Amino acid sequence: MNEIDKSRGIWGSKIGFIFAASGSAIGLGNIWRFPYVTGQNGGAAFVLIYIFFIVIIGLPIMVSELTIGRATRKNPYGAFKKLSPNTRWRFAGGLGVLTGSLLLSFYSVIAGFTIGYFFKTLRGDFVEISGVSQSAEIFSAFSANPVYTVGLSLIFMALTALIVVRGISSGIEKWSKIFMPVLFILLIVLVIRSVTLEGAGKGLEFYLKPDFTQVTVGTVIMALGQALFSLSLGGGGMMTYGSYLSKKDNMVSSAGYIILFDTLIAILAGFIIFPALFAMGGDPSGGPGLIFVTLPSIFMKMTGGMIFGASIFLLLSLAALTTTISLLEIPVAYFVDEKGWTRKKATLWASVLVFVLSIPCALSLGAYEWFTSLPFFKIGFLDLIVIIFANYSLVFGVFLIAIFVGYKWGIKSAVQEIEEEGNVFANKRIWAFLIRYVSPLAIIAILGYIIITGNYF
Ligand code: PHE
Repeated sequence: MNEIDKSRGIWGSKIGFIFAASGSAIGLGNIWRFPYVTGQNGGAAFVLIYIFFIVIIGLPIMVSELTIGRATRKNPYGAFKKLSPNTRWRFAGGLGVLTGSLLLSFYSVIAGFTIGYFFKTLRGDFVEISGVSQSAEIFSAFSANPVYTVGLSLIFMALTALIVVRGISSGIEKWSKIFMPVLFILLIVLVIRSVTLEGAGKGLEFYLKPDFTQVTVGTVIMALGQALFSLSLGGGGMMTYGSYLSKKDNMVSSAGYIILFDTLIAILAGFIIFPALFAMGGDPSGGPGLIFVTLPSIFMKMTGGMIFGASIFLLLSLAALTTTISLLEIPVAYFVDEKGWTRKKATLWASVLVFVLSIPCALSLGAYEWFTSLPFFKIGFLDLIVIIFANYSLVFGVFLIAIFVGYKWGIKSAVQEIEEEGNVFANKRIWAFLIRYVSPLAIIAILGYIIITGNYF
């Protein structure tokens, strides 16, 4: 058994695993999405609901994913197959592998944008612009250029593959231990710069002032969806990382650290964006365009704005990279476990496949009309993938995990795995309750909401 484990890979240390898993969780979802979603949904009121879901649903599901992974030491497909042989449950794992791979296909495109914008900012592209309308034009031209969008996503996939191919401890863990501290320091420096700008206070007020009048059912659903996405749950990522844990690791405390870091970084990201925007007179309600359109329009108004701007895009690229690594690891683990391929062959094929899928995403932001507004759906290819995989499939994946652990594999078996080698799971009763009742109901609510209203998170 140990022989096989070693050849699959294993984390070198607890802290290494926490860095890697936090790296997976901390991504564009934290630094790009969380701040604008909070700004649009009632500030601190939204943050409180978000934290509530992180604790009552995110934490229990994260523990479940890690446990399934470690109990089986397999990729999601192999994990469900092993715990429930000859049943259809393996397709729940298969859905995880598929979801993870397709999330990567669009994620790598946006991640590529962050590298592109890092260089554009450094090159001084935003130095002489007059305002938002011009930065919007720059963005449209950029996203409609297939050489940039496809090329940058290729570069991002290649970087990701170069790290994943080195394996768990000497690739993913080693690089996460370098990237995560750099990311944290960069973030802190940017927060300090932003909150000390004159007029920053108004931004903080906008970002965090609780406005309960803006809290609707939609807000609550948004908070839950954002919590699941931000913690990398439902797509098989945490399950795969859990499969490289050793039996002595305390998964409950590790999960606690991961959610703590993830939430902290998300909240801090808002402390960079909003104070700077308010201080420089930018419009905070830019939604998804906040990072690529609104933000660049204020760089030239700031002393040292070019460095500030480039650092933000560097921060985004780093955060995205530790996430794409974890996403690529999902299909790689699948090919290694299920097909018996070497890591090298698995990484090559998984990244080529995902890259091919990312091409229509990259062409759907203005480069090709057909992909930009798909016949019948009337939305772009990238948006369609986001709706199917980052909404339905991800949430459904979480539902299946809760049902599987709560009723099929069983709480008892899971607790036994969690308590291996003398670890004590003090809150197992509360955990069981959250997994069996609270999580499935919350997921039914969120799925019902997106089906009925057609709104996505
Ligand atoms: N957590 C990542 C982010 O915040 C996204 C992600 C979702 C990664 C699901 C893996 C699985 O950017």
